[in-house]
Amino acid sequence: MVLLSSLPLGWLATGVAVAILLRVTFFLYRALIAHPLAHVPRAGLLAPVHRLAWAFPHELRGTITLDLPKLHAKFGPLVQIGPAEVSFYSLDAYDVIHKAGSKFSKDPRVYGGFVQDGHPALFSITDPGEHPKRRRLMGQLYNRSKVPLLEELMLHHIEHWTRCVVQSSQAVDLPVACRALESDIISDFSFGTTVGAIEAWASGSELAMVAKNDELSSWMPIWAHKSYDTFMRSKDKSTTETTAAYPNLIGTLVRSGLSPLTALAEAKENMGPGTDTTSASLAHILWALAHNASFQDELFQDLQSISFSTDMTSLEGVPRLRACVKEGVRWAGAAAAMLPRVVPPGGVKLHGMFLPEGTVVTSSPIWYLRDTTAFPNPDEFNPYRWLTPDASGLRVDALRDKYYIPFSKGAYVFAYYELYLSVSQVVKQFRISVPSDGTASPALRARPTDGRWQPVSLPQRKEWVAAVVTDDLRVTMTPRTKEERH
Ligand code: HEM
Repeated sequence: MVLLSSLPLGWLATGVAVAILLRVTFFLYRALIAHPLAHVPRAGLLAPVHRLAWAFPHELRGTITLDLPKLHAKFGPLVQIGPAEVSFYSLDAYDVIHKAGSKFSKDPRVYGGFVQDGHPALFSITDPGEHPKRRRLMGQLYNRSKVPLLEELMLHHIEHWTRCVVQSSQAVDLPVACRALESDIISDFSFGTTVGAIEAWASGSELAMVAKNDELSSWMPIWAHKSYDTFMRSKDKSTTETTAAYPNLIGTLVRSGLSPLTALAEAKENMGPGTDTTSASLAHILWALAHNASFQDELFQDLQSISFSTDMTSLEGVPRLRACVKEGVRWAGAAAAMLPRVVPPGGVKLHGMFLPEGTVVTSSPIWYLRDTTAFPNPDEFNPYRWLTPDASGLRVDALRDKYYIPFSKGAYVFAYYELYLSVSQVVKQFRISVPSDGTASPALRARPTDGRWQPVSLPQRKEWVAAVVTDDLRVTMTPRTKEERH
C-alpha cells in the first residue's frame, strides 16, 4: 500500500493499461487464433468471441436463417457463428447429425427453454438415450394406423371453421383464421378440450391474441408457454368444446404408464410445434390457390370424383391435392428454426474439418427446401414441381425428394392429414380469390401464368422459431352453391 501510494500516478495508470491490454490480447488470441475452430470460416470477424457479436443480433432480428445461406454460398458448408457454434449447410452432414439413433444431442441451451414445469417432453428431451424411448411411446398417437381416429376430431373443427366463414361477410385474413382452426384441432387432440380459438376468431376478439403470439414468437422460451396460457384462460371462461370420442394425448399417454405431469407437459409442448407450423402451411396453400381460379376448379372436380372423401388414402390419391400440400409445406417453410445439436465425445470430422466434442452444430431444414439445385425459383409456389404436365399423376424426381425435409426427421402423418382434410374441405365449400379492392400486394405476382398455373411469390416474413408473415394475406371466400357440391 505504501509502495503503491509512493509511485507516480502516471506509472500506475500505465501499468493498469498495459495489464488490461495484455489480458485483452490474450483473450483475443485464444478466441481468434488458438481457438479449436480457428480453421472454420467465420460469419463475422468477432463471431468466435461471443454470441452477442454475430449470432444473437441476427436471431433477434429474425434474419439468421435468411442471412446464413448467403454466407454458406461464400464460405462453404461450415461457418462459425459463435465461440463453440458452427452452422452447416450440407445434406450429408444433416444426415449424419440428425439420423435416427444419432448421438448428437439436442442443445439444452435452446430446447431447455421449452421444458414445461420441469418435465421434458418429446420435443425438448435432450438426452439421446431417453428420446427414442419417448418417441416409441408417442408413436401410438401419430402412427398411420391411428389416422382414422383423427378424422372425426379434425372434421368437427374444420366444419365449425367453414360455418364461421360462411356467416361472415368479411375478407378472411388467412394467417389469423388458419391459426384459429389449428389451435382448436391441436388443443382438442392434446388436452381433450379446445382453446375456443375459432369462436374467438369468429367474434373478432382473437386479433390481440394473435398479434401477441407473433410478437412472442421472436422470443423462443415463451413460444411454448403462450398457447397454454391462452388455453388455461379459455378454460376459465368455459368457452371450450370437445370431440370427446377421440382418446386425447394426455389420456392415451397416462394409460400407457406415463406420469400425469409428464403427459401434461407433452400436451402443453405440442401446442407450439403443432399449431404454428400447420396453420402457416395451410394459409400459404390457400393464398397460392387464391391466385389460381382454374386450378381450384380442377382440384374441385378431382375431389368431386372421389365424392369429397375424407379418407386419407383417397385424398392422397388426388395428385393435384397432394402436390398443393407438399408444395405448400415446402414453400411456407413454417418450422424456420435452426436445430442445434451438440457434438458427442470424440468430436466429429465434417467436410474435412474437425469439430471437438461439445461444439454446437446447427442448420435449418428450410434451407434445403429452398435449395436452387432441387427447387428452381424456390420462392415461387408451383405445384407442377410435383405433377406430371397434365396433372394426372405425380412426377418422379429423386433430387427434389432428397432435399425435401420439412419435418426434419420428425413425424408427419398428422400434419399431412390435417392439411389434406382442410384444403379439400375448403375447396369443396368455397371459391377463394384475392380481394379486388387493391389491398393485395402487387409484388406477390412474380411471373405471368404459363397457362396452367400463375406462380405466386413467397410473402414477406420474419423467421424466428416459426416464420411470421408480414404481408397482408386477406382473401375472399365465396361459398359454392349446393348444386355445385353434389
Ligand atoms: C407442416 C407442419 C409441421 C412442420 C413443418 C413440422 C416441422 C418439424 C420439425 C422441423 C421438427 C424437428 C425439430 C427438431 O429436431 O428440433 C419437428 C418436430 C416435432 N414436431 Fe413438428 N412439424 C409440423 C407439424 C407438427 C404437428 C401437427 C405436431 C403435433 C401434432 C408436431 C409435433 C412435433 C413434435 C412433438 C416434434 C418433436 C419430435 C422429436 O423430437 O422426435 N409437428 N416438427
